[in-house]
Amino acid sequence: MCLSFKNPSKTFASQLCFLRRAESLIFALGLHTRMASDDPTKLHPAVLIGLSDDDPTAVSRKQDHIELAFKSRVESAELDGRFYYEPLLSPHPPPGSQPPFPFLGKELRAPLWVSSMTGGTALANVINHNLARACAEFGFGMGLGSCRQLLYGNEFLADFDVRNTIGPDLPLYANLGVAQIEQLLEKKESGRIPELLQKLRADGLIVHVNPLQEAMQPEGDIFKRPPVEVIQELLQTLDIKIIVKEVGQGFGPESLRALMQLPIEAIEFAAAGGTNFAKLELLRSDPVKQLIFEKIAAVGHSAVEMLGFVNALKTELGDRCRVRHLIISGGIRDFLDGYFLLSKSSLPAVYGQASGFLKYARGEYADLRSFVEAQVRGLELAQAFLRVK
Ligand SMILES: Cc1cc2nc3c(=O)[nH]c(=O)nc-3n(C[C@H](O)[C@H](O)[C@H](O)COP(=O)(O)O)c2cc1C
Repeated sequence: MCLSFKNPSKTFASQLCFLRRAESLIFALGLHTRMASDDPTKLHPAVLIGLSDDDPTAVSRKQDHIELAFKSRVESAELDGRFYYEPLLSPHPPPGSQPPFPFLGKELRAPLWVSSMTGGTALANVINHNLARACAEFGFGMGLGSCRQLLYGNEFLADFDVRNTIGPDLPLYANLGVAQIEQLLEKKESGRIPELLQKLRADGLIVHVNPLQEAMQPEGDIFKRPPVEVIQELLQTLDIKIIVKEVGQGFGPESLRALMQLPIEAIEFAAAGGTNFAKLELLRSDPVKQLIFEKIAAVGHSAVEMLGFVNALKTELGDRCRVRHLIISGGIRDFLDGYFLLSKSSLPAVYGQASGFLKYARGEYADLRSFVEAQVRGLELAQAFLRVK
């Protein structure tokens, strides 16, 4: 039974009961309607009746609780079954508590990556500079979109030239398609690649391997040789750091087996499940082609499946595994996907997003900043309270 309102007991249960009765009284007297007053000389009603002066929002918060309780049900089918929830084992992590860690020869403060997105459009300058600014503020790396336009001229250089924004200490990689590499090697013009890296002050080159996108693209390139041979020749010809990625369909196990034995810095998954460039190009082509090819655009490997391949191959290959890092990307929706996949990776990894960042990078920096800050905070909370099953 509740104790008297005038005589709250020291026990927790009776204090709670006291609060409830005080709250009822406030509502009965209609005092809550005056709580939003801007007049700083007016005391909070809870303080007026001597309820509490160190928790001034208690009354309105509890009213919110009552109103929102019925909207806050999470049905068991909605539960995320990938994690154990362990609320007892950690305090709240302070924001910014993720320790720095080495990645691609530099030091990151958050395990995120901006996946490559095209430059050369009116918005590209804003997007790339916003993204680079977020990298600098939160401490993660960035892959530029295809820099093909910069191979033969500097008309679009300003769109891609973000080294001053991201700063000298974080990884920044240029990007070319394997088709362009093949053509440059064939024409004995591979020297244009180090020139490109120099003008962008990039740490290395991302090579995107996209045979289905090229095949679906009305103006797409044709590969004359298997991409793995082109990448091998590139590695033999130039002394530069290389990352290899797909563009939204991922890599199957035999492609991963070949890649993992090459002396490359990282594999970026660009897995299926998010933006898919074969499908995107198909949407730009004629309706008959769309009908015939839509099913092949739906073939590919998810990031979860690819990570399973990579972990098994790392064990199988042993010392023959030469790849050093993973960028787990393609269809990553949020920090929970990222945390899950990073926890499962047997290689040092970060998680990458393209369209996820793009959504917030086209306008004010403040929008992107809020998004990234929430992602990083989410990761900190996940690290503290979730364990992967
Ligand atoms: C607007 C846009 C442009 C892109 N341009 C490139 C590109 O130039 N080079 C590249 O390697 N990938 C490019 N991608 C593919 C992404 O890097 C990424 O692999 C793919 O979008 C899957 O990631 P997501 O599901 O997080 O979007 C682009 C993606 C988007 C959304």
